[in-house]
Amino acid sequence: TVEEPAPLPPLGWNSWNTFYCNINEQMVRQTADAMVSSGMAAAGYQYVVVDDCWMQDTRDSNGNLRARTDRFPSGMKALGDYIHSKGLKFGIYHAPREKTCNQYFSNLPGTSSYGNETRDANLFASWGVDYVKHDWCDPRGTAAEQAAVFKKFGDALKATGRPIVYSINPNSAHWNTAPTYSGWGAFSDMWRTSEDLDDAWSTGCSPSADCFVGITEALDIIEPMREWTKPGQYNDPDMLMVGVRNSLTLTENRAHQSMWAMLSAPLIAGNDIRNMSADVRSVLTNPDVLAIDQDALVRQADRVRDDGDAEVWAKPLADGSVAVALLNRGSGTRQISTTLGQIGLGSGTHNYRELWTGATGTTTGQLTASVAQHGVALFKVTPGSGSQPPEDGTALVSSAS
Ligand code: GLA
Repeated sequence: TVEEPAPLPPLGWNSWNTFYCNINEQMVRQTADAMVSSGMAAAGYQYVVVDDCWMQDTRDSNGNLRARTDRFPSGMKALGDYIHSKGLKFGIYHAPREKTCNQYFSNLPGTSSYGNETRDANLFASWGVDYVKHDWCDPRGTAAEQAAVFKKFGDALKATGRPIVYSINPNSAHWNTAPTYSGWGAFSDMWRTSEDLDDAWSTGCSPSADCFVGITEALDIIEPMREWTKPGQYNDPDMLMVGVRNSLTLTENRAHQSMWAMLSAPLIAGNDIRNMSADVRSVLTNPDVLAIDQDALVRQADRVRDDGDAEVWAKPLADGSVAVALLNRGSGTRQISTTLGQIGLGSGTHNYRELWTGATGTTTGQLTASVAQHGVALFKVTPGSGSQPPEDGTALVSSAS
């Protein structure tokens, strides 16, 4: 059996959110360098993923995929070797339908993995690929049909003997349709839960519409899928927009990073790592926030209070603490409060720490913060000595898995 490639949510970078099809090997190598020099790698970000537009539109005479020579003249094996030489891991994009997503919209011929599963998986393994993003870009296909096709490629990846993270993008995500299928985790490590994330707090996209979502819409769509996330299997609300085109404010970047960590989501940065500001770097590499994401219980936070624009999310942690996000989705600063009972803790003195400011304190009941517009207060709350656990059955969030 192949080693579990992603016992915790994968951390990395992907080319799409900033570069779209404007990719080339020099930019990817520079990004790998910057992952190390910026401290991203030391913070835990490992995967360097080349998204769509790396491949030619046709296969070679042996039926193999090939890289575009204008963009990747040294080839993908050499690129993988370079990424590995930096202590990082190599990811690549592929598609099971006739076309990749970019080809779908520009109507070019395709290079589908369908029927080529073993060939393509073996080719990727020979290039040293450690992560595959497999993207179903077609409105057709039921969940069952997609599951069969996705599983076949996942099996081919496993059969290579190389641990390869398998990230899938079913069409229910592309079309924001009802999250009725719970089975993706049986054969993939992570699966997209909504249409592409825009570099926006909200886009106004309504559920089941074919439109890009903002941070708030992505949260609403993923929220009912809480039970599906577990070690090795992750709901994926899409790659980070932290620092992408500097569209989000520092407050919004912190809220975005916080909420993805609360979800135990894969954290795949999408910004230009070579040119990021100190603020953006500090958001992406905050070790306390990354520790919430990487917590060993791997629980997706529960929205325990939804009061208009004021929300409270709670996530049990392996050490018996609870991570709490007080989220202000609306405009203007507001006071947001919760109680130990509401976040699944018991009575007595509890210690808390706000993970962006470092502010600490104790509480026996309430937890309150003044939260800026589109902001979050992110607490880790830990039972103090002499505190009592919640009575059996009263916890809204149980800490047992
Ligand atoms: C889809 C995916 C994106 C990206 C593009 C590439 O839209 O959701 O993340 O991979 O395809 O074309």
